[in-house]
Amino acid sequence: MSEQHFDTVLVVDFGAQYAQLIARRVREAHVYSEIVPHTISAQELAARQPAGVIFSGGPKSVHVEGAPRIDPAVYDLGVPILGICYGAQLIALQLGGEVADTGRGEYGKTDLEVLNEGVLFGGQPARQQVWMSHFDSITQAPPGFETTAMTAAVPAAAFEDADRGVYGVQFHPEVVHTPHGQDILKHFLYDACDALPTWTMSSIIETSVEAIREQVGSGRAICGLSGGVDSAVAAALVHKAIGHQLTCVFVDTGLMRQGEGDQVVETFQRHQGMELIHVRAADRFFERLAGVTDPEEKRKAIGELFIRVFEDASGGIEDARFLVQGTLYPDVIESGTSEAARIKSHHNVGGLPEDMEFELVEPLRNLFKDEVRRVGEELGLPEEIVWRQPFPGPGLGVRIIGEVTPEKVAILQQADAIVREEIRKADLERDIWQAFAVLPDIRSVGVMGDERTYAHPIIIRAVTSEDAMTADWARLPYDLLERLSSRIINEVPGVNRVAYDITSKPPGTIEWE
Ligand code: XMP
Repeated sequence: MSEQHFDTVLVVDFGAQYAQLIARRVREAHVYSEIVPHTISAQELAARQPAGVIFSGGPKSVHVEGAPRIDPAVYDLGVPILGICYGAQLIALQLGGEVADTGRGEYGKTDLEVLNEGVLFGGQPARQQVWMSHFDSITQAPPGFETTAMTAAVPAAAFEDADRGVYGVQFHPEVVHTPHGQDILKHFLYDACDALPTWTMSSIIETSVEAIREQVGSGRAICGLSGGVDSAVAAALVHKAIGHQLTCVFVDTGLMRQGEGDQVVETFQRHQGMELIHVRAADRFFERLAGVTDPEEKRKAIGELFIRVFEDASGGIEDARFLVQGTLYPDVIESGTSEAARIKSHHNVGGLPEDMEFELVEPLRNLFKDEVRRVGEELGLPEEIVWRQPFPGPGLGVRIIGEVTPEKVAILQQADAIVREEIRKADLERDIWQAFAVLPDIRSVGVMGDERTYAHPIIIRAVTSEDAMTADWARLPYDLLERLSSRIINEVPGVNRVAYDITSKPPGTIEWE
């Protein structure tokens, strides 16, 4: 799946947190989009044959030392370019306009006055709200350009040279606080770039099915299912492409949520008719985890054993040469650009064993999470799987503080099921990034009936987040918290207290270990 099949708009990343958002918005307009580093040469860019290029926002000022630039030869490629915020300032600077520190930056909602509809503002009101976040101002558009909009602080808040196909906007059309932003992007995509809106779910599926068939041929592939969205959708896509040439391996570690193992088997084996090897490995995991209390040691133990069990099971599949993985586009961007600080050693279920020689099949490599979910829906996967909240590879193992035992897993599974059920009933599932229970390694005194109790507390963790890099504790309604507390204490033997975690990330992490 690539620009060979779809008109592609490349987003040049100048280091803004907005680059991914721009690419997502472009795709929402049904035009395929990818992110490229600003160090790309004009020649490399041209080789990708893009329908258009968007320069993202970036650092505060184009004037600071070392501020990122782009190969100026890109302006002569004849490919339409839209600069956003820093990107617009860069265009102004490189093409002979003026960017000045006027001492009047703008942050937040700002009134924009459209002077001339031009290409970008076609059919829009002359006054509109836009979202600004800049320090320097474009005081003059480059020669030959027309200034199409201004604000109180920026004389050239939008400018264009339609003949040349170069456009700049100081504001952020990709954020929701610019109500006409998506329309502005669409004008650029459809009118300036002549891009065709062919990036739709059915064409994504069709193209990946073709690509998978071409890659795998008559070979055999295996896929580790974790119960999570990504591996589920990857498996369903590959299954659609190659049917029985795919065998899925589902390792039940005993550390999954209540009912999850059965659901995986039900969905993939019964409904989708996949070849599925169901490995019941809980005993092996509990045996390995006996006495292990250190969080990193625990993660490592689970990860290693998982790979061993997976290897044992997949070793029996004759001639399997391909391994399906649910790698997503944000993982690809991240591993390509910067090495994120290693806070926890994440292990991805179905991780590639080093000494196995597989060729990877990664059908979701170009997709954002929301696209993966829509592909899953289109492929007929059940809502509980498609909209499942993220779940760590090591499972409940990192939500039980201290030693992991079958008894503790049973307590946590029951409490967790109540949390999920109540969140679902309150219709908060899609507003909350993750909501779950944690079982700490402490006990406290309580009284139930006339009896003194000495039992475990359950900690409820519920967070809102965009991408799990940062998170805030969810402001759950008090009556919901109350229901959670009374149900957990009444229904889960061995629990006599419930606490709510009110720590944001940072400084906390989402998981407890
Ligand atoms: P933390 O706890 O670091 O978690 O704030 C961030 C997000 O990652 C999930 N998580 C994992 N996912 N393998 C995974 O695939 C792991 O080992 C792992 N550990 C944490 C966590 O649930 C949250 O969404």
